[in-house]
Amino acid sequence: MCGIVGYIGTKDAKEVLLDGLARLEYRGYDSAGVALMEKDGTLSIEKQVGKIANLRNAVFRRFHNQCFTIGIGHTRWATHGGVTKENAHPHLSASGRIALVHNGIIENYMTLKQYLLKKGYTFVSETDTEVLVHLIEDFYKKEGNRNLQSAVMEALKVVEGTYGIAVVCSDEPYKIVAARNGSPLVIGIGEGEMFVASDVNALLPYTRNVIYLEDKELVVLKSENYKAYDLDYQRIDKEIVRVEWDLSAIELGGFETYMEKEIFEQPEAISNALRGRVHVEEGMVKFGGLNMTDDELREVHRIVITACGTSWHAALIGKYLIERFGEIPVEVDYASEFRYRNPILKKNDLVLVISQSGETADTLEALREAKRKGVKVLGMTNVVGSTIARESDGGIYLHAGPEIGVASTKAFTNQVASLILFAIYLGRLKNMSLYEGQRLLKELSTIPEKIKAILEQKSLIMDMAKKYSESKNFLYLGRGFNYPVALEGALKLKEISYIHAEGYPAAEMKHGPIALIDEFMPVVFIAPKDALYEKVVSNIHEVKARHGKVIAILSEKDEHVLKYVDDVLYIPQTFEEFSPLLTVVPLQMLAYEIARLRGLDVDKPRNLAKSVTVE
Ligand code: AGP
Repeated sequence: MCGIVGYIGTKDAKEVLLDGLARLEYRGYDSAGVALMEKDGTLSIEKQVGKIANLRNAVFRRFHNQCFTIGIGHTRWATHGGVTKENAHPHLSASGRIALVHNGIIENYMTLKQYLLKKGYTFVSETDTEVLVHLIEDFYKKEGNRNLQSAVMEALKVVEGTYGIAVVCSDEPYKIVAARNGSPLVIGIGEGEMFVASDVNALLPYTRNVIYLEDKELVVLKSENYKAYDLDYQRIDKEIVRVEWDLSAIELGGFETYMEKEIFEQPEAISNALRGRVHVEEGMVKFGGLNMTDDELREVHRIVITACGTSWHAALIGKYLIERFGEIPVEVDYASEFRYRNPILKKNDLVLVISQSGETADTLEALREAKRKGVKVLGMTNVVGSTIARESDGGIYLHAGPEIGVASTKAFTNQVASLILFAIYLGRLKNMSLYEGQRLLKELSTIPEKIKAILEQKSLIMDMAKKYSESKNFLYLGRGFNYPVALEGALKLKEISYIHAEGYPAAEMKHGPIALIDEFMPVVFIAPKDALYEKVVSNIHEVKARHGKVIAILSEKDEHVLKYVDDVLYIPQTFEEFSPLLTVVPLQMLAYEIARLRGLDVDKPRNLAKSVTVE
C-alpha cells in the first residue's frame, strides 16, 4: 500500500527516486517524501502532502543544481497518524543522522515509545515508524556510532509487526540497509548501482535483475555489491530473478488512464491466460505449476476459497464454477474473516487463495493459517514472485500483465477465466466427458473476440453515463453466475465515482432493498439469457412498477423486456457459466465513464490503495 524506493549509484538519486515513486503512486498517495544524501554524508529531507507531483516540484525547486548519489523515498497511505508533512516519511532520528522509510505496522510501538520517551527521545510525528528510527539510533549509539547494519538488526529483533524498510545514515554515506518482514521488498541489481523498492514496477526502467527478500531478511546495498543476511548475521545466498514484464506494458500507450487501458486490454489478457493451457481437441486444460497430482486432486473433498475485494467476487464465481464442473463443494470466505475465525479444515480440504497483487496482508495471513493447519494451498496471483505466489504449495498465474489502476478490471476477468480453466480441469478428472470438455473450451476461446464487441459500445456507454452521473445511489442486481457480477459492478462504481451503490442477488431485493426504489434510483440488472432469465425479468417488472430507472445488461437480440427498461447494453451470447466475463465489462465501462464525468482521478481514487498490505 505505501511505496518504498531507494537508490545508490552514479545517477542523480533525486531523479531515480521521483521516477520510482511516481510508478509506485498507485500503492498509496496521501503524502510522499525523500531523503537525499551527498557524498560527504550531508542528508536532506523533503516531504509534501498530496501527489508525487507536489514532491517533485518542491525537490526540484530546492535542489535544482545539486546531485545526490544515494537516497530513499516513500509514498504514504496513512495508517497511524493523519495526513501531514510530519507524518510523511522519511523519518529522521533525533540526531538527524539516520533516515528511514517504512511500510507496514509496528504493533508494539506504544511500548517502545514509552521506553524511548523515558530515555529522553522526543517525537515529532504520530506514526509508529518514528519509533523505529529512534530505536535504530539508540542501538547505533550503543555500538559506538559505527555500524548501521547491526543497529538495524538489533532494533528489528525487538520490533513486533510488519515492515519493509530502507535506512540510510550520514556517518556511512555509501550504503543503504533494507529489511523485510511481511511487507514486500525487492532489490534491483544494476551495474555500479543498486535499487530497493516495494514493487518491481519502480525498477523496470533501470534493471530487470532482481532479488526478492523473504521475511526476516536484511540486505546491505553498496553501489558495487549487495550482501544479504538473516537477523542472526548469517550470510544468505539469494537467487537473482529476471523480470519479464515489459516497460511499455506499464505505460499508458495512448489511453488517458491506466484503468481505461486495462479495461481495453481484457481481450488480450484473457488470451494470455488461455494460451498454452487450452487443448480443445483433447477437451483438456493443462497447468504448469499446480504441484498436485491428478490423484491428489481427485481426493479433494472440499475447496475453501479465500480472498478480498474484487478477488473475493471472482472467488464467488469460482464457487459456482467448481461446484458445477468440478463437482466439489466450495466455500468462499473473506480472507480477513477466515484468518481469525479458527476455520475448520480437514485432511482432504484444499485452500485456494486469490489475489491480484499477491501481497494483500489479510489474504497472505489466511494462506499462512491454512498452511499451519496442514492443508495444501494453491495461489492464484497476477504478480510473479509475489509473497503469496512464493508461499503457496502450487498455483495458477493470471497472466493479466501489470495492473496499475487501483480499481481491478483485467485481473478480475483473468481470475474468472483462470477459475473456469481450473473448474474444467477438475471436471475432466471426474465425470466431464471429452465432448463436454471440447464444447466448453471451444466457446471459451471465443470470449476475447466477444469482449472486443462490447468495448466497441464505448460511445453508447458514455451517453448512458451522462444520464446517470448525478445519481446519488445505484442498485445492481443479478442472479446465479451474475450475482457476484452485481457485487463487482457496485464496487467499481463506489470506488472510483464515490456514488453509493449496492450489489444484491436479484431475488433478495424483495426482502429489503425494494424499499429504496423510487424514480431517482437507477437499478442495473444483469440479465443475460440463462437459466434464471425469466425470474430476473420478474424482478425488472417489480422495479418498474415502483418507477425505478432500469439499466439492463441483456443478451444480444433480446427484445423481450425492452419496453420495461430505460437503457440497455447488449452483450454477445455465450454459455451462462462464462457470462460474467462479458457482463462485467459494460459495468466497468459505465463506472469509468461516470467517474470521468464527475472529474475524478480514476487511477487513484481517494482513500484507496492498490495493494492493501496492512490488515
Ligand atoms: C478492486 O477494485 C479493489 N481495489 C480491491 O477490492 C482489491 O480487489 C482487493 O484489495 C484485493 O486485492 P488483491 O487482489 O491484490 O489481493
